[in-house]
Amino acid sequence: MSIAPQSTAVHVRAPGKVNVYLGVGGSHDDGYHALATVFQAVSLYEDVYAELSDEFSVTVVGEGSDAVPHDDRNLAVRAAKLLAGAADYRGGVHLEIHKSVPVAGGMGGGSADAAAALVACDALWETGFTTAQLHELAARLGADVPFALHGGTAVGTGRGDRLNPALAKGRFEWVLVFDDEGLSTPLIYQRLDEYRAEHGALADDPPLSLDVPMGVLHALRSGEPGDLAATIHNDLQVAALRERPSLEQTLTLGVQAGALRGLVSGSGPTVAFLCSTPESAEQVRAELAASGVSAVHVHGPVPGARVVPG
Ligand code: C5P
Repeated sequence: MSIAPQSTAVHVRAPGKVNVYLGVGGSHDDGYHALATVFQAVSLYEDVYAELSDEFSVTVVGEGSDAVPHDDRNLAVRAAKLLAGAADYRGGVHLEIHKSVPVAGGMGGGSADAAAALVACDALWETGFTTAQLHELAARLGADVPFALHGGTAVGTGRGDRLNPALAKGRFEWVLVFDDEGLSTPLIYQRLDEYRAEHGALADDPPLSLDVPMGVLHALRSGEPGDLAATIHNDLQVAALRERPSLEQTLTLGVQAGALRGLVSGSGPTVAFLCSTPESAEQVRAELAASGVSAVHVHGPVPGARVVPG
C-alpha cells in the first residue's frame, strides 16, 4: 500500500547526522558507554508518512529498505506504540518510510525514522505532547533519537541523549561516502573496548563522564571550516577501521580530492568529508565519482524532525 500521495497522511521529514566529535568513555552497568559528542544534522533526509489505521503497520521503500525490519521490531513502529501507550491512544497507524539515510551507516537513519514517527503520530492523533515529553520518549528508543528530534548542532552527553544546543555559525559543507554493507553499532563499541584493552588505553579508570573539547565548540562558533577540520575526531574510528580496513583508503581518497579532512561518522561505515566551500565540496564529490566512489554533497546544520506542510 502506498500512502504518500494521499492528503490525509501526515508527512514528516527527519535528518541524518554526522558526529563532528565523538569521545567514548567507560561503559555503565546497562552496557552503554559514556559519550561526549557533537552532532550535526545534515541535509540527507528520511521521509515518513503516517495514516490513521486500526493496527500498527509499516512499509519501507528506498535505499537498503530490505535490511530494515517490516514488523514490530521496526524502530518507527516501536516509537508509534510507545507514544500510543503514553497518550492512552487506542487506535493505530500505518507508516510508510522513504529511506535516503544509509541503513546501519553511522548516520542515525533508524533514529531519524523513530523521531519522525513520534512527530507524525503526535500530529495525526492530536496527542499534543510537548517537546520535552517527546524528547523523554525518544531517549527510551535509542541514544541518538533525541537528537533526530532536536536537529541543528548539539552537544550530547550521558549516552549521547542528554542534549544541549551548540552555537554554529553559517553552514558547513560535507561530502558523504557510503559503504555497500553496514556496520553493527554494538559490534563497533565492543571492538573499541577490545582495542583499548589490548593497548592499555583507559584500562584502569575509564571516565564515566566526558566533555567535548572547547576547541571544537570554538571552531563551530567561528564558522570557519578550516578551524573545525582541525578539531574533528571520532574515538570509534579506530574500531570501524579495524572492522572495515577499506575505509582507510576512502579517507585518503577524499583528502586527495581536496577535502579539508574526513572522519568516520558515528560507528561507520559512512565517511564524512568536511570541505571549505560548496564549490570545493562539489569538486570533491565529482573527483570521487570519477575514481569510482559514489558520494553525495550535503550541508549542515538543518532542523530536526518536522511536519512538512501540505
Ligand atoms: O541506543 P542505540 O540503540 O542507538 O545504541 C545501539 C548500541 O550501541 C547499544 O546497544 C550499545 O551497544 C551501543 N552504544 C553504547 N553506548 C552509547 C550508545 C550506544 O555502547 N552511548
